[in-house]
Amino acid sequence: MKINKEYKEITSEIVNDAKFLELKDDSHHGSNRYEHCKRVSYVSFLMAKLLKANSKDVAISGLLHDYFHGSTNSNEDISYLKHPVTSANNAKNDFNINKEEEEIIRTHMYHYALVKHIIPFINHREKVIAKDYKPTSKEGHIVCISDLLVSIFEVLKYKVRYETCLYFIFLINLMF
Ligand SMILES: [Fe+2]
Ligand SMILES: [Fe+2]
Repeated sequence: MKINKEYKEITSEIVNDAKFLELKDDSHHGSNRYEHCKRVSYVSFLMAKLLKANSKDVAISGLLHDYFHGSTNSNEDISYLKHPVTSANNAKNDFNINKEEEEIIRTHMYHYALVKHIIPFINHREKVIAKDYKPTSKEGHIVCISDLLVSIFEVLKYKVRYETCLYFIFLINLMF
């Protein structure tokens, strides 16, 4: 299909890069961060086509929006609110991203900043000024929304299912 061919041409260099492939080692929403980034990139690309936005910029920034190693729970620099800047810096160092792509990556956690602004006791040690994370372009909003939708899908499909299986096995063990 023409649209898939175009998507592959835009993303193949990053998707096959040795450093980017290392994201496969990082677990994320019950799956791994490599698959998560690819999903966000592809959903963003399709959404950009529908909304007549810059599909190349969202495909690249979608791929690199979570371009960091480790867990958001364990490291100050890659916390929920700081990993967008870390990812943007890593992406700038390793790939030739433009200013717009850098800005899209930096603001992709606006959904989380908004929720935290409304319910401040979520992850209460991190303080947030939501407007600092507000995307400055249509493309930024697209990647932010795609990240949220893909994350919900992944948690329901992989994480909840995995934990449900564990509880089920635990219950079976109790019964017999
Ligand atoms: Fe993120
Ligand atoms: Fe993400």
